[in-house]
Order: sequence, then structure tokens, then C-alpha cells
Amino acid sequence: MSDLHHLLKKNRAWAFQIKDNDPTFFQRLSHQQSPQYLWIGCSDSRVPSTQLVDLLPGEMFVHRNVANLVIHTDLNCLSVIQFAVEALKVKHIIVCGHYGCGGVQAALSNKKFGLIDNWLRHVQDVMQKHASLLSELPDEARRAYKLCELNVVEQVVNVCQTTVVEQAWERAQELTVHGWIYGLENGLVRDLQMDISGYNEVSGCYRNALAAVQATF
Ligand code: CO
Repeated sequence: MSDLHHLLKKNRAWAFQIKDNDPTFFQRLSHQQSPQYLWIGCSDSRVPSTQLVDLLPGEMFVHRNVANLVIHTDLNCLSVIQFAVEALKVKHIIVCGHYGCGGVQAALSNKKFGLIDNWLRHVQDVMQKHASLLSELPDEARRAYKLCELNVVEQVVNVCQTTVVEQAWERAQELTVHGWIYGLENGLVRDLQMDISGYNEVSGCYRNALAAVQATF
């Protein structure tokens, strides 16, 4: 018997429960998905994207990686964004980071972890960009907390600067990019007040978001 028997059992119970409430739910979904949202979040098991916003299968397209990074040469993430924007026509892209992010803490610590150091170099780039801001903070814990916020702010801008999002705005497609951060200790999302619906809003919104991050230093 499979070691994962318990998971398969849970899966059957889950599927039956949904079917019980809505007998044609899976049948309908199997024909088409039309999510309104693309979620770009951290792989951390404590940040379960669709669950924490209480959405059902079919309602949110999801991409997750370590430290919720949007890198301009990452074909995986870019392909997800392209499919979500051009094929599914999502109306919202949500970049959601989280406090206590292991990837952000590892980047900040400067310790060596092997292959992943190359990925986390992108978080260190964010750290270096805001080095003078971060140096005002009294300790490592506070710096990690604020670097989690700054990382979201930077990744939101990265989403806005992808060719896919730029082109969507050029053809006047309705699309807003948002920045959120999730608290592991209370399960609550904080809106970082980055709601960008056009290329001309990016720099102003970025400045405001940085000022807001700094205001709570
Ligand atoms: Co994380």
C-alpha cells in the first residue's frame, strides 16, 4: 500500500464533498477555466494561495517559487504571466510575499546554501538596492521583516515591466497589478497599496509604496 494512502483518501473525501454541494462542479470546470486572478507567491507550505483567499478550483491561476520572485529571464514565470494575461485574460495579478520568508532570510544572512544561492542573489540585489534604508534598522529581525516588504514592491514593478504586461496595457486590456504581504502568525494579508493599472502609474506607485514601507520602519 502506498505511503501516501492518507492523501488519496483525503482527496476522495474532498472531491465527494464538493460534488455533494454542486454535482456538476468538476464536469463544468473540466471544459473551461476562466480565473480572474493570477497569483505569484512563495512556495512556502504555510502560504497556501487559493486557501488563504478562500477561492475554489478554477478561480485563481497560480505561480509559486522561492521568495516570490519575478525575474525577466525566468521563462517559467514569464510563460505563466503570458498565458494568464493573453489566453485567460485575468483582470488582476497579485504578487504576494510573506513575513518570515526563509528565502529572504537566507539572502540576508549571506550564508551559503548551494544552488539556491544563485536564485536568492535576486533578493540580495533588492537588499543592495535598498541598503541605505535597511541599514537604518536596529537589528537583523527588523531588516528581514522590511526586506520581505521591499521584495514585494520590487517584484510588482518587475511584473509591470514584463513585455506581456506592457503590451496588454498598450492594447488597453483591463489589468491591474497588486502587491500584498501575508502574515504567517495571524493568517492575514496586508495590502501594500500597490494597485497599478497602467504603465504611467508605475513610478508614482513605486515611490509611494517605498515611502509607506519606510514610514513604518
Ligand atoms: Co517564502
